[in-house]
Amino acid sequence: MTRVAIIGAHGKVAQQLMRILYDQGDDFVGIVRNDEHAEDVYRFGGEGLLLDIEREDADAIARAVAGNDAIVFAAGAGPGSGPERKATVDFEGSVKSQRAAQQAGVSRFIQVSAMGVDDPVAAGSDESWAAYVAAKRDADAELRRTALDWTILRPGSLTLEEGNGLVTVGDRLPSGSIPREDVARVIVAALAAPSTIRAQFELTSGPTPIEEALAGLGTREHERTGGRE
Ligand SMILES: NC(=O)c1ccc[n+]([C@@H]2O[C@H](COP(=O)([O-])OP(=O)(O)OC[C@H]3O[C@@H](n4cnc5c(N)ncnc54)[C@H](OP(=O)(O)O)[C@@H]3O)[C@@H](O)[C@H]2O)c1
Repeated sequence: MTRVAIIGAHGKVAQQLMRILYDQGDDFVGIVRNDEHAEDVYRFGGEGLLLDIEREDADAIARAVAGNDAIVFAAGAGPGSGPERKATVDFEGSVKSQRAAQQAGVSRFIQVSAMGVDDPVAAGSDESWAAYVAAKRDADAELRRTALDWTILRPGSLTLEEGNGLVTVGDRLPSGSIPREDVARVIVAALAAPSTIRAQFELTSGPTPIEEALAGLGTREHERTGGRE
């Protein structure tokens, strides 16, 4: 049995994740920033923990995640937020959580990022969009520099449709979408798939069963490095 700390646990991906973890008998701590959301985490079958990642430092987050087997960073400032909160949630919140993971000795860290964030932002883009892309890009870069057993998921547009467990993964994919339920399934599968450790990949709906798609990541990494790493 695994015990997972979910940061941003009341988010729409995270709620799907809590449902799947509960169904397969895993424990989880859901980190949220208001009382009602903590109660919802209990309703999902986990432990709700109040902590605002913008207000608290890495030490406080480390205390919250200690004793878990893995951390899933699923927080985000959300579509209505301006550039400042992209920086304080999507970038600083992630980096503080990465430090917390190291302090608490929780080596497995799964980050929900977004497709295409290493690409230059189109001229004339909205200021919030540019800040969002930079925050995700820079948080991912910080995570890759750590010694954590990280996985960076970069999904396309997220939908609220029912998932079907079929995906495409790759370094760079044509733009596409994916149900949040399938992103949650990929997170759960990644927790059990060593091929996803120190792997970053884009993710959309596609033709391949999730376990098969993730197993292929290890093969591709092996081909790239000639088995030297
Ligand atoms: N929308 C897309 O098409 C798309 C595409 C690719 C990637 N993504 C990324 O995928 C991730 C998950 O998406 P989603 O739709 O599940 O997001 P979501 O529903 O907006 O959930 C994000 C969660 O983060 C929480 N949060 C924000 N600030 C916080 C803070 N200071 N302390 C603690 N928690 C905080 C929010 O809490 P509150 O409920 O209290 O605000 C919310 O529950 C996000 O990082 C998003 O950027 C989205």
